Amino acid sequence: MTGFSRTRDILLREVLGRIQNKLQEVGRLQPGVQKRTIISSAMEKDKGRDRRQKTKELILDSTKHVANVVTPPVCKGMTTLLRSAFDKNFEIPTVTLGSENWSTAFTILKPYLLKIRNLKPVRVSEDGKTKYVYLNPALLKGTSADEFLELLRSQSDTGEVFQSISVESVCFSYDNWSHDQVLDSVLPDDIEKLSSYSKVGHLIHLNLRDHLLPYKDIIGQILLDKIPSTKTVVNKLNTIDNTFRNFQMEVIAGENDTVVTVKHAKCEFQFDFAHVYWNPRLGTEHERIHCLLERGDVLYDVFAGVGPFAVPAGKQKVQVLANDLNPKSFEWLQLNIKKNKVSDYVKAYNLDGRDFITTVVQQDLVARLESGQISQPFHVVMNLPAIAVEFLDAFWNILHGKEVDDLNILVHVYCFVKGAENYKKEALELVKDQLGFQLEEDEVNEVAFVRNVAPNKEMLRVSFKLPKIVLTSPKPVNDGPSPKKRKVSEVTEDESSV
Ligand SMILES: C[S@@+](CC[C@H](N)C(=O)[O-])C[C@H]1O[C@@H](n2cnc3c(N)ncnc32)[C@H](O)[C@@H]1O
Repeated sequence: MTGFSRTRDILLREVLGRIQNKLQEVGRLQPGVQKRTIISSAMEKDKGRDRRQKTKELILDSTKHVANVVTPPVCKGMTTLLRSAFDKNFEIPTVTLGSENWSTAFTILKPYLLKIRNLKPVRVSEDGKTKYVYLNPALLKGTSADEFLELLRSQSDTGEVFQSISVESVCFSYDNWSHDQVLDSVLPDDIEKLSSYSKVGHLIHLNLRDHLLPYKDIIGQILLDKIPSTKTVVNKLNTIDNTFRNFQMEVIAGENDTVVTVKHAKCEFQFDFAHVYWNPRLGTEHERIHCLLERGDVLYDVFAGVGPFAVPAGKQKVQVLANDLNPKSFEWLQLNIKKNKVSDYVKAYNLDGRDFITTVVQQDLVARLESGQISQPFHVVMNLPAIAVEFLDAFWNILHGKEVDDLNILVHVYCFVKGAENYKKEALELVKDQLGFQLEEDEVNEVAFVRNVAPNKEMLRVSFKLPKIVLTSPKPVNDGPSPKKRKVSEVTEDESSV
């Protein structure tokens, strides 16, 4: 180690130690450091708003304190959005850089930069020779300007690039705060905050708890303003418990337009979110099923919705028969098939799931058996978790009298399990009960956790091979003592807050 770098090291350690010691103290800047007052770039852009440009140059004195956390003003209880109420001045430590070695300087300054929405932390002087860099006051708390300047200089061989540190009074406005910050500023401290939101195309949907309803307009407006590409914010009016798994909703901000376009699994979907089921949280599960499929396989999608399993499967050149009872889902499904140019692979039906299995699926299987096209795997997807298992007994005897030894039909059925210690075991037992057949271990491919729907309520998938005896025999009539019947589900489709 050279003498120079040893001295630098000792100095650095000393300064760092002092910074730590002083972290709890009030920050102060040394006399002689210039203070200028400017306005943030976001404010400058916003010509329509109250513009307050101060030009007074101040000299800092050692008693001047720097507010250390840059957060919006507190506006508790505001229910109608008043954007100008979010303007606030902060004194921001600013490093002036000389005309050379900027990249070294930025590497050193990076951890201290002030990162605020719509604020560029670096400005260049008009002649292009000087740069001004805003630092986060919270990170400098307790350190004097001289000490900090020393610290910066000691970290670079060309310390002269750090010319001085001043404090600039910067006016931040509504545009500078994130939606979380503005919501925090508005909502009372003693209530549970908005936990999250879901975005579907240009639409944000919320499931506001009762205590947040008085704030629904302002919450909607803040999200509309802050979340990029949002045009509509809706709030659910009920949990999903109707047949078609959609929910009543109220537009609380933006345009009254619930027809959205969404990219999913390399396909583009369009649908009216107010009339069909779509859950962005199922993306991973859709993908898992797509990973099981290969070109030439056959997929029967019993509760297809607008096609998130079926349409991408068509893109994979899987032969798909997709069904949904909701006429609106069926229409959007047909449109999505066309839109994604998979009409050669995906056919749509508008039937009850049981009828679909006993007619369309049955006839397709018979036709394939008769023409000998059965070497490929067959998949049946049943995503209607509240009641899908009740449709399993429809598979009994659909291939009565047929030779099915070489048929490989995998069923992927979804269910909810509530409050069970071993939810996977519970899901499997539920499937066996409802199918009316004790599946052997080697007939069960997977019991997979899909997602948590509400506290203690899980969504699961049971993937199993349809036994030959189920396909070719009538369902046995159980005249013995009835086995313990498990409840299918008291859980509606989505009880989570969003
Ligand atoms: C939970 S959604 C699943 C949609 C889609 N498969 C997905 O993964 O997002 C269930 C779908 O089943 C449809 N559905 C409800 N009852 C049905 C029934 N008896 N027969 C066929 N479809 C039904 C609903 O309209 C809804 O689109």
